[in-house]
Amino acid sequence: MKAKVDVLLGAQWGDEGKGKVVDVIAPDYAVIARFQGGPNAGHTLIFDGKKHVLHTIPSGVFRPGTWNLVGNGVVIDPVILMREIDNLKALGVDVTERLLIGRRAHLILPTHRALDAASEADKGKEKIGSTLKGIGPTYMDKTGRNGFRVGDLERDDRKERYATLVKKHERLLGLYSTATAWKEAEQEWYDASSRLRELKLVDSEHWLDERLNAGDRVLAEGAQGTLLDIDFGTYPFVTSSNTICAGACTGLGVAPGRIGKVIGIFKAYSTRVGSGPFPTELNDATGEHIRQVGREFGSTTGRPRRCGWLDLPALRYAVMINGITELAMMKADVLSGMDEVAICTHYKVNGSITDRVPYDITSGIEPVYEQLKGWGNLSTATDLPESLNMYIRRIEKAVGVPVRIVSIGPDRAETLVRESAVVLS
Ligand code: GDP
Ligand code: IMO
Ligand code: MG
Repeated sequence: MKAKVDVLLGAQWGDEGKGKVVDVIAPDYAVIARFQGGPNAGHTLIFDGKKHVLHTIPSGVFRPGTWNLVGNGVVIDPVILMREIDNLKALGVDVTERLLIGRRAHLILPTHRALDAASEADKGKEKIGSTLKGIGPTYMDKTGRNGFRVGDLERDDRKERYATLVKKHERLLGLYSTATAWKEAEQEWYDASSRLRELKLVDSEHWLDERLNAGDRVLAEGAQGTLLDIDFGTYPFVTSSNTICAGACTGLGVAPGRIGKVIGIFKAYSTRVGSGPFPTELNDATGEHIRQVGREFGSTTGRPRRCGWLDLPALRYAVMINGITELAMMKADVLSGMDEVAICTHYKVNGSITDRVPYDITSGIEPVYEQLKGWGNLSTATDLPESLNMYIRRIEKAVGVPVRIVSIGPDRAETLVRESAVVLS
């Protein structure tokens, strides 16, 4: 029987803990596949006392026997990918046997990174807060039909293609007042892309179709989060790809009817890194407390993450846009020890109360909060304390889907499954 593709994705502004959950559930799947984004992602996995941060490689890589696919919707920086492979090899994990790269995926060139930096510098105070990995310019070349794809590395004229694109970029870079050096990065890029050519390159849509026809279960691993989606996020403070469930169809070549479960990952509170609107942001001691206890510093850039209370209108929006069928709530332990926790149930927009995410949330939004009882230390919890259960039930009631996984610490083992999770109205 044909198998389904389950999709796991971020329901907030990224860094929800997607990597951890993929690692936890990967043994249920034959294939883990990234479908969008690139090295702007930083997915953290912790087990056996060791921490691993993955940027391009799917988070199933530590599970023996699992295939890991980088799909066509991903943008790849060969230098970062090779560094990831080498770091894993140094730890005794040889990923190359089980790593597949889609030929239709686009490559990030050194000049894409320079363009990203120049564009951000040019925006000044209005900057997006990009990770500066060249994501935006690479997707621009993809949609502009100028891109350089993984499959182009197999062509005889690859050097000419590369040179043509770089020439265009040099012209564009000339339009910016800030010059960003990129030439010295070129040799490393050539070397890394030659190594990339030697990996298992596949027509990933066909490869996946064969696996599904053979009954193999596939998990699509999202990067970033719903509110960073190019269409439905807080534009223009977003990334340049479709981070939502539909992105798994275009980013892997999977038909919509093939999608099975959609697992939404969210934190018990909210964070955001980079610029842009954040209605429940806490610029106070509570925000700082969450940042310190939750170690809210970027996995890719090390930047401090902005912190705030859980935003139910935004979470409900994510459930709607993605068709989320179940949720995983992360970092419940970080709020431990607070007498009360707040949850944003509605927004007040120009004096009216709404539970919808409006077109423009850049200003004039006031969160409406409900206070709930806090919970104690969860480090040895095998069952959830009643006040945390009430918090979860409040969320389920608001968004209409069950919270099946509750994470109470960063380690693989610190994960509770609510087997009988059902939404009570
Ligand atoms: P991703 O990008 O969605 O994979 O998330 P990141 O890895 O960027 O950020 C999540 C951070 O939270 C990482 O440092 C994880 O180790 C950590 N983390 C994940 N789940 C939990 C949890 O339940 N409790 C705590 N305290 N940390 C967690
Ligand atoms: P993971 O997969 C959190 C943010 C950046 C910036 C905006 C655009 O680890 O959850 P880009 O480099 O894509 O042009 O940056 O998006 N951003 C992320 N924030 N987690 C991520 O990935 C992110 N990837 C990009 O901070 O605000
Ligand atoms: Mg991350």
